[in-house]
Amino acid sequence: MGSPGAGKGTLAARLKALRVEHFSSGDYFRREIERRTPLGRSIEAAMERGELVSDEMTLQLLRQWFWGRPASRGFLLDGFPRTLVQAVNFDEWLDVRQETLTGCLLLELPEEATVERLTGRRVCPRDGRLYHLKSHPPANPGVCDDCGSELVRREDDEESVVRHRHELYLESSRPLIEHYRNQGLLWRFSAEGDPAEVARRVLDRFDLNFIES
Ligand code: AP5
Ligand code: MG
Repeated sequence: MGSPGAGKGTLAARLKALRVEHFSSGDYFRREIERRTPLGRSIEAAMERGELVSDEMTLQLLRQWFWGRPASRGFLLDGFPRTLVQAVNFDEWLDVRQETLTGCLLLELPEEATVERLTGRRVCPRDGRLYHLKSHPPANPGVCDDCGSELVRREDDEESVVRHRHELYLESSRPLIEHYRNQGLLWRFSAEGDPAEVARRVLDRFDLNFIES
C-alpha cells in the first residue's frame, strides 16, 4: 500500500530477490484500456479523473487473477486491496485457499513529494519501466533505455488529478490501514530517500530466510 507516487511500482521492481509474482492492479487496468476491451472502456473515464474503479469491477478482475495462479507461488500485490470491501473479500479468498499474508507494506510520502514524483514520471509503454525527469532520467531524453520506445506520461499524472488521487487515497486507506494493523500485519515505511534506500529499509525488515527460499 502507499499513496500515489510513493514508489510502489519502483519498490516492487527492486524486490525481485523475493522471486514472487508482482501484480499491479493499476497496470492491469491500463492494459485493459489500451486493448480497448469492454472492461477497459468502462473504467477509462474514472481512471483518467483519478477516481477509484468500482469495488465490483475490481473484485471481478482480481478474482480472475487470484484463482488463475498456481497456489504454490507467492505474490507481491501493488494497488490491491484498496478499500475495506476489497480487503474483506480478499481475506475470504485467502482463507479458501489456505494461504496467508506475510505482511502489508505501507509506503508513506508527504503530498508535495507525491506531486513532484508524479508530475515528473515517465513510463515506457512497452515494458513498463519507470523513469523520472529529475531523479531517474533516461540516458537519451524521452526514450526507454531498454527497448528504445518513446516514453509516455500517464493521463492521471496531471497535477490537479494527482492532488485528487492523493486526497482520495487518504480517505480510502484509513479503514484499510486499521484492518491490517488489527491483524498485526502492518509494516510502515517512510518512502523518502532514493529508491535504493527505500528498498534497503524494507529488505532489512524481512526475514532473509524467507527471501532466499
Ligand atoms: P495505480 O497504478 O496503482 O496508481 P497509484 O496508486 O496512484 O500509484 P502510482 O502507480 O501512481 O505510484 P507508485 O506508488 O507505483 O509510484 P512509482 O513507483 O510509479 O492506480 C491507478 C488507478 O487505477 C487508480 O487511480 C484507480 O483509478 C485504479 N485502481 C488501481 N487499483 C485499484 C483498486 N484496487 N481499486 C479501485 N481502483 C483501482 O513512482 C512514481 C515516480 O517517482 C516515478 O517516476 C519514479 O521513478 C519516482 N520514484 C519512485 N521512488 C522514488 C524515490 N525513492 N526517490 C525519487 N523518485 C522516486
Ligand atoms: Mg504504480
